[in-house]
Amino acid sequence: MDDRFNDIKHKAQEAIDGCSDLDSLEQIKLEYLSRKGTIAQLFKELSNIPKDKRPSFGKDINSLRELLRFEIDQRADEISTKSPSLEEACDATMPAPRPAVGSVHPITKTLNEICEVFTRMGFAVVEGPEIETEFNNFEALNIPQDHPSREGFDTFYIKDEWLLRSHTSPVQIRYMQENVPPFSIVVPGKVFRPDATDASHSFMFHQVEGLVVSKDINFANLKWALLEFARVYFGKSTKVRFRPHFFPFTEPSVEVDVSCVICGGTGCRVCSQSGWLEILGAGMVDPNVFKAVGIDPDIYNGLAFGMGVERIAMLKYGVDDIRLFYENDLRFLGQF
Ligand code: DAH
Repeated sequence: MDDRFNDIKHKAQEAIDGCSDLDSLEQIKLEYLSRKGTIAQLFKELSNIPKDKRPSFGKDINSLRELLRFEIDQRADEISTKSPSLEEACDATMPAPRPAVGSVHPITKTLNEICEVFTRMGFAVVEGPEIETEFNNFEALNIPQDHPSREGFDTFYIKDEWLLRSHTSPVQIRYMQENVPPFSIVVPGKVFRPDATDASHSFMFHQVEGLVVSKDINFANLKWALLEFARVYFGKSTKVRFRPHFFPFTEPSVEVDVSCVICGGTGCRVCSQSGWLEILGAGMVDPNVFKAVGIDPDIYNGLAFGMGVERIAMLKYGVDDIRLFYENDLRFLGQF
């Protein structure tokens, strides 16, 4: 008899231990403890047992029943408090949260796009330091100490001859000192001027400088390169207008306008009804600049241009306040 009890006990124990959810535990409970279950069957046998053995047989059934009740209850507690399995914890069919994707800053994007137009024409992209010498930023560019245009550049002076460059033109000087023509370069970068900040001024902004030096470069090449740039960057039907101007580092010098990117030239608020937008300064490299870097102006000619990146981005995207570019409001930056 003992063997039978032991068998039942072991089988039940094994089933309870191997059970991992409440439904199957309920099945085990029914199998052993219900009115037609194993324990009830044992009680029915009681009447066939010799009288003198009945009390101990009854006692054994009772303790087996108590043991199974206890084991089942304990297992139920374990199952309901244990942490859910991976399948139970997550619904693999639920849409995943989208990771936030960053975007390129509109100024970086504009810089890259401008440079790309010129690299496709064969220009190389060159960079220079933001801390410059007075010589590179002014003197070598034919802007002597007492030249009036130097005041127009209002500059952050650091110490001795050092300053924060006020334009990207000094990179022309560095490049010409170290390279033998012919070459064509564009120079993207930050420039600094102590301007009071408002909707169209910032003490730091970006420029792209261009320089081509060769034996047979002329003004027609400058016109073609800038017209090509305007058409690729602003659209095929863009017109270009050259107005005589003065820069110390070029002779002749021009300011270049494009037909208004907003109204196409008919006149609107952005172009002040003129139909034109000024986008850059340009000209033929002044012989004095060549002399400052040791290039013979009787042998070489050069064309140069410089444009403000923020201004071009503002025109292209219809942004009316330069400060938006620096406030890092993701609602603004995410639109580009
Ligand atoms: N450096 C000028 C500025 O910051 C822009 C410029 C004009 C650059 C004419 C040039 C140029 O190379 O030829 O306003």
